[in-house]
Amino acid sequence: MKKIVTLAGDGIGPEIMTAGLEVFDAVAQKINFDYEIEAKAFGGAGIDTSGHPLPDDTLAAAKTADAILLAAIGSPQYDKAPVRPEQGLLAIRKELNLFANIRPVRIFDALRHLSPLKAERIAGVDFVVVRELTGGIYFGQHTLTENSACDINEYSASEIRRIMRKAFAIARGRNKKVTSIDKQNVLATSKLWRQIAEEVAKEYSDVTLEHQLVDSAAMVMITNPACFDVVVTENLFGDILSDESSVLPGTLGVMPSASHSESGPSLYEPIHGSAPDIAGKGIANPISMILSVAMMLRDSFGETAGAEMIEHAVNKTLTQGILTRDLGGLANTKQMTAAIIANL
Ligand code: NAD
Ligand code: IPM
Ligand code: MN
Repeated sequence: MKKIVTLAGDGIGPEIMTAGLEVFDAVAQKINFDYEIEAKAFGGAGIDTSGHPLPDDTLAAAKTADAILLAAIGSPQYDKAPVRPEQGLLAIRKELNLFANIRPVRIFDALRHLSPLKAERIAGVDFVVVRELTGGIYFGQHTLTENSACDINEYSASEIRRIMRKAFAIARGRNKKVTSIDKQNVLATSKLWRQIAEEVAKEYSDVTLEHQLVDSAAMVMITNPACFDVVVTENLFGDILSDESSVLPGTLGVMPSASHSESGPSLYEPIHGSAPDIAGKGIANPISMILSVAMMLRDSFGETAGAEMIEHAVNKTLTQGILTRDLGGLANTKQMTAAIIANL
């Protein structure tokens, strides 16, 4: 029996978590996957119940889980509050040492005509953003006074080396190309980043390494996104570039992710946030969460057939023209979820 800890969080979080768990349960029955769910307070929901976005019992449960599913956190009501839901997200990543955030970018055939990019630009797009998740400016000291502000960006060689190795290992199982993205014409952290990338590349002679500066990489992601196979970059650049990559399929609502440590439970979550603008309306696209469940089945449990079942059902549902509003359709969260389950 596998223990899955679920963190529904805020905004559309509970709506898409329900959808993800319904699909998960339907697949689990088909593949005879035995599991139990432990739902825990997190984010704004954690602040409301215990004053902290990552309550102690939530962290304790997460540490002993076989995998963690997280939907989304954040709400404008905490924008000026002393404690923010986002602190819980950063804390769980750090506490569980989830340094490797894998954000796949692929375009479902049925969504090709919905991409804001021309068909020839998105032809052949299939890449993975490997985002460093527990270092960099997110975790340096932040100082804010009335007249100045400071955020420290720090990376150790070992932090860079382990994320590089992860990226090269993933590339080895794909098209054997790593694009390392930095700002080495300005930043010391990026100079070290590039140096370690070169060193690690020597361990993977079958994989090609190229470097791109982040500003031009942001442009290439729109003009020639098919050139990427595995993109590896630091925490902040990865945050920004992965949201940019959601423009290729046309919406953040279809973007899943997996976060891994060296050992211990992995965490699976959409790359988007709590979408306060549509929360409570029942219209959020659940596909990001549902595909995160597929990543969990594959990465944490080796259940490839279950993962593929979900991915095929999602593609089939989209092909049938069942689309949520972010994709220009009229289906609501429940209708999309029911259709995906019917297509399993
Ligand atoms: P967001 O990702 O929540 O939303 C950006 C836009 O995308 C919105 O228009 C939203 O409606 C749309 N969108 C996102 N997911 C969607 C879905 N599944 N279906 C349909 N449309 C979807 O980003 P934001 O508005 O900048 O941030 C809102 C809050 O979420 C903030 O508090 C932020 O800190 C937080 N956040 C949390 C996470 C997380 O939990 N991992 C990630 C990003 C942002
Ligand atoms: C993400 C989010 C988070 C991040 C925020 C909410 C702290 O944008 O998961 O991409 O910046 O990592
Ligand atoms: Mn983000």
